[in-house]
Amino acid sequence: MVSDLARAESLIGSIPDYPEPGVIFRDITPLLADAAALRTSIDALIAPFAGGFDVVAGIEARGFLLAGAAAIAAGAGLVPIRKAGKLPRPAASVAYALEYGTAEIEMHDDIAPATRVLLMDDVLATGGTIAAARELVAGLGGTVVGTAVLLEIDALRGRDALGDAPLHAVFHI
Ligand code: PRP
Repeated sequence: MVSDLARAESLIGSIPDYPEPGVIFRDITPLLADAAALRTSIDALIAPFAGGFDVVAGIEARGFLLAGAAAIAAGAGLVPIRKAGKLPRPAASVAYALEYGTAEIEMHDDIAPATRVLLMDDVLATGGTIAAARELVAGLGGTVVGTAVLLEIDALRGRDALGDAPLHAVFHI
């Protein structure tokens, strides 16, 4: 019998040459659309950190979807980490390098000092986004207790760039 988690993993699609030639896009939307797969995936995302965080910080855009569900399931708050230029109030920002060019993420100062923050995203690739998100939360006085991602692309070695802080991936590819 296929476990709930194995079934959930089987629902993650791989779309070749999207958004550009040579890139394989990992599509979690079929997993999100399946009630049992969504529930078991959210439970697996938060399990290692149970009771240890006050808010879930979800990273735009697909991280929002997981973080919202995880926050409700855990009885925690929810904070969005947005791409630059989307937030209506003054926000802290961190710029980081991409393969070509730079990106910037922003967050409102809506967390009290020492708030325990669980970072959440759909995919860990090079680790640049998570590294920047950690810096962003720390700069606002929060404590990042860990990072949870649905899918880690092992070959890109993002984990190596992130040091020893707790990093949990539900699935690996
Ligand atoms: C993807 C993914 C992660 C990030 C991982 O986001 O959702 O946030 O890339 O890459 P990294 O580990 O190399 O930093 P994307 O920039 O495609 O944004 P989107 O979710 O808004 O499409």
